Amino acid sequence: MAATKTLDDLFLDTLKDIYFAEKQILRALPKMARAAQSEEGKAGFLQHRDETQGQIERLEQVFELLGKAARGKTCEAIQGIIAEGEEIMEEFKGSPALDAGLISSAQAVEHYEIARYGTLIEWAGQLGLADAVPLLQANLQEEEATDQKLTQLAKASANDKAKAKKSA
Ligand SMILES: [Fe+2]
Ligand SMILES: [Fe+2]
Repeated sequence: MAATKTLDDLFLDTLKDIYFAEKQILRALPKMARAAQSEEGKAGFLQHRDETQGQIERLEQVFELLGKAARGKTCEAIQGIIAEGEEIMEEFKGSPALDAGLISSAQAVEHYEIARYGTLIEWAGQLGLADAVPLLQANLQEEEATDQKLTQLAKASANDKAKAKKSA
């Protein structure tokens, strides 16, 4: 019965959500790296791809702490955010605004992750899952650092390039 569901059920559900999301992100990042025009953008997406692999492994450790199988649960939110990113890649292909668009999509992904990890860390604390907290915090810190790097990249070059006059 739904009435008996508690915070541990929510925690497990949300853990499955972010596990699914990270796996989708792992697949999306190499595509974004290929699409990016700037070398810094490409390198940044590839670096975060490697970090994401490590994040997935930390999530698997959290499942293990719970004594549960690591299993994802379809997250429509991340599918939608990634689909929008793919739309930008198609519609802005070859245009000066492409990287600014890619960065904005990537930041939507990061903010989704930051929201999820913030919640999971709080709930892990409430549930007394002390060993899960540092694992989740490590992931959160990487997402926050990535978000900041993306902001710098946008401010340093991508936004200015995107404002370039149309050639036609
Ligand atoms: Fe992530
Ligand atoms: Fe991320």
